[in-house]
Parts: sequence; structure tokens; C-alpha cells
Amino acid sequence: MARVALVTGGTRGIGKAVCIALLEEGYSVVATYGGNDERAKAFTEETGIPSHKWDVSDFAACVAGVKQVEAEVGPIDILVNNAGITRDGTLQKMEHAMWQEVIDTNLGSCFNMCRATIDGMRARKFGRVVNVGSINGQGGQYGQVNYAAAKSGIHGFTKALAQEGARSNITVNAIAPGYIDTDMVAAVPDNVLEKIVAGIPVGRLGKASEIARGVVFLVADDAGFLTGGQHMY
Ligand code: CAA
Repeated sequence: MARVALVTGGTRGIGKAVCIALLEEGYSVVATYGGNDERAKAFTEETGIPSHKWDVSDFAACVAGVKQVEAEVGPIDILVNNAGITRDGTLQKMEHAMWQEVIDTNLGSCFNMCRATIDGMRARKFGRVVNVGSINGQGGQYGQVNYAAAKSGIHGFTKALAQEGARSNITVNAIAPGYIDTDMVAAVPDNVLEKIVAGIPVGRLGKASEIARGVVFLVADDAGFLTGGQHMY
């Protein structure tokens, strides 16, 4: 039977490309999403991949959601923690809620989803976790103390959990995408984005499918020795 892969924030952007790539590899794929019902419906109609709505920053919702998915399609062997938001602004303009929402959604979700799936992975002695960090978690970004802190936290989380999972054949890796052609990046003001693109060595935004390729590589059954990595794209 095909392994089950769950991708958070899987109905748009990088998550959508990851879902499609995993489906093409023969996995049984499930996506979660946080709010955009219309796009989730279109995604499921287009791909045939089921989409479940819950707030990944809410621990109880994650536990309940995982339970439901596992009852419907089977145990989750592959988890891609991709869901993420931005609430950009310089620190002096940043409301506490903008900090908290980003920390809870981007970093808290990694704890919530891993905690909800780790017992099963440990019991079955197999797991593949990919956490989506960001280039801005490595280098920081003007107007993103919240996002950079959350994404940087993901890298530490990944390295620690990789050590805990190793003996159970659970690998935990992070991918740190650069600026990818998604709704999130399209929301960056044009004049700012132009400068960012000018500084990208290949001279263009990345494609979501280019990130998905890395995820497919990391979750493979024969990638069991590759863990605790931070893979920059
Ligand atoms: N470096 C240095 N100075 C900068 C700067 C930068 N990168 N960006 C803006 N500034 C300066 C401006 O030039 C301006 O200076 P002056 O007052 O001297 O003209 C000052 O900061 C204020 O700029 P704004 O008027 O733009 O300030 P604002 O408060 O309205 O907006 C901002 C600030 C929200 C940070 C806005 O510039 C912005 O949205 N920047 C984009 C941030 C970004 O890159 N986000 C990434 C989102 S995509 C993502 O996160 C995906 C991923 O993982 C890569």
C-alpha cells in the first residue's frame, strides 16, 4: 500500500506543488489548509487530493485532524510542515498579535503536527518529516523579525528532532526556500521585490515545483541516512 503523506498548507503555493509531486511519485496524499475554501475546492477538483481544513497553530485541532485523516486513509508516514504566513512590518510597527500569529502558525505548527504523528511513526519505525524553513530564517529580512525568528526556530527544531528520530528510522529535514513565485511573495511591494530579485544569483524567482523536487528526494524510503539537514534552495 502506498505510504500516506500529509502536507500542511497544501492547497496553494509550495504546498500544492509538493502535493502534486508526491502524488506523481505514487504516494497517497492529503492536504490541509487554513482558510481559503475556494482555492482548496479548486485544488481538490484539479488534483483529486483531499483537502482538510484546520488551524495548524491549534494543537487540539491538529490532534483531531490527524486522527480523522488516519481513520480515512491510513497512518501518516510522511509529514511536510509547509503551512506558513507573513505579517510583515518593522519592529516598531509590529503589533504583538503579528508576532504571535506568525510564531504560532509557522513554528508552533511544527510542534503540533509532529507531536500528533510521532507516536505512530515511532511505533512503525518509519517516518519522514520535512519542515519548510526560509532563506529569511537564515539571513533575516528587513520587516520580518517574526517570520525570521519562526523560520530560524524551525531549523533548530529540525536538528533536535532529527537526533530523537534517528534510531526509529524517522528522518527530519528542513528545506529553506528562497523567494518562490507564490501568492506570499506576490504580496511583497513591487519596488521591494524588484531589488530582491536583482540579488538572486539565477536572476528570477524560484518555482514551487523546484522546491517540491527536493521534498520528493528527502521523503523517499531510501533516504534514511539523510537527516537533520538544512537544505537551501
Ligand atoms: N533594507 C533597508 N531599508 C529598507 C528595506 C530593506 N530591505 N526595506 C525598506 N527599507 C526602508 C525604506 O527604504 C524606507 O526608508 P526611508 O524612510 O528612508 O525611505 C523605510 O525602510 C521604511 O520603508 P517602507 O515605507 O516600505 O516601510 P513600511 O513600514 O511601510 O514597510 C515593510 C516596511 C513592511 C518591511 C515593507 O518594506 C515590506 O513589505 N518589505 C518586504 C519584506 C519581505 O521581503 N518579506 C518577504 C515576504 S515573502 C516570504 O517571506 C517568503 C520567504 O520565505 C522568502
